[in-house]
Amino acid sequence: MEMPSHDLSSAIRQSPPIDLSIPYNASWVKDKTILVTGGASGFGAGFVRHWARNGAIVIIGDVDIQRGDDIAREMRKETGKDNVHFVYCDVTDWQSQVNLFKEAIKLSPHGGIDTVVPNAGIAGIPDETMNPKDLSVAEPQPPNLKAIDINIAGVLYSVHLAYYWLPRNPGSKACGIDSDQRQPRDRHILFIGSMASLYPISLAPQYGASKHAVLGLFRSLRATSHLHGVRVNMLCPYFIDTPILKLPARLLLAGGGMGKVEDVVDAATRFVSDSRILGRALVIGPKASFKQEENGEWIVTEHGTPGSETKALWEPYADDWYEQDAFNRNIVKALNAVQKARGWVGWGLDLVKAMGYLIWGSK
Ligand SMILES: NC(=O)c1ccc[n+]([C@@H]2O[C@H](COP(=O)([O-])OP(=O)(O)OC[C@H]3O[C@@H](n4cnc5c(N)ncnc54)[C@H](O)[C@@H]3O)[C@@H](O)[C@H]2O)c1
Repeated sequence: MEMPSHDLSSAIRQSPPIDLSIPYNASWVKDKTILVTGGASGFGAGFVRHWARNGAIVIIGDVDIQRGDDIAREMRKETGKDNVHFVYCDVTDWQSQVNLFKEAIKLSPHGGIDTVVPNAGIAGIPDETMNPKDLSVAEPQPPNLKAIDINIAGVLYSVHLAYYWLPRNPGSKACGIDSDQRQPRDRHILFIGSMASLYPISLAPQYGASKHAVLGLFRSLRATSHLHGVRVNMLCPYFIDTPILKLPARLLLAGGGMGKVEDVVDAATRFVSDSRILGRALVIGPKASFKQEENGEWIVTEHGTPGSETKALWEPYADDWYEQDAFNRNIVKALNAVQKARGWVGWGLDLVKAMGYLIWGSK
């Protein structure tokens, strides 16, 4: 009897490990409409500037009106195009996010969104997380869950709205590893996790929990997102020099390595521009020279050491779906069978619905 294959990576249409030595072209983001929450500062601002310079239309959703508006104006002036817009959005407020997505659709030259980056996040305040300081009070006070509200509830709102709008992106096709390298009409969510998604961060438990949750969301969705035609990818940056890092964190990190926004932007741009990448994640760390030992471990070396390479990007969690249990095998097979049964008729019906949307809007 033939044993069932436990490797589901092709069934979920996960693309192969990323070969970082193969260059991508940032100009492939041209004409894409990209929505970035938290786009007024740090990584978000880096994404907005780089993608606008390469011809994308970017909609910033942020609570920081001053900085968001400044960046939009600065980029419009620099590019001479009406290509960057700021919309006030508090990601913890459902209606505020609904408004952001609707505005993005109106501002998008083709009436759709190609990529959603739920990037807004805060570090949280250690004192206000899970440890009540005063044990003598009669009633415990509730914890401040702001980091959870922004970093995971806000992301869930964005993802929910992305799954509504991305498949309605006029002219877009369901994602696939056989997509064109440059596919302007895309359906893509780029999650912003952290190294705190991969290991514990002892002084910021709420932040660590929220970023583990983002990882869990990404790992779950990458198994089924192809059914909606949406591709999902994720960044897991190490500590990077942005305003999120306050003085205590900077003091604790003194003398250690710190990553650069430009490397985060580089990793994000590879995901956004190359439509063939599905279900992959990249860690961004301090750029240094590394050499791989015979036992597979990487060691830091002097620049120029024979056999070494200078890198800031690493791929984690590449093999979730290579070895799967019966439950996941059966559910993925069932989902693929439904899609197969719907066949060209299902595809045609969805296309008619999408055309109806194009003609009559969302009514
Ligand atoms: N910088 C790092 O070391 C690091 C490392 C790993 C992951 N990250 C993650 O990257 C993302 C961006 O962080 P950053 O370093 O650029 O920080 P940042 O503080 O520079 O930018 C965060 C942005 O989010 C916005 N924001 C905060 N609350 C919001 C809300 N309720 N609604 C809408 N916008 C809101 C802020 O106004 C700001 O513009 C976050 O999710 C963060 O957790 C950062």
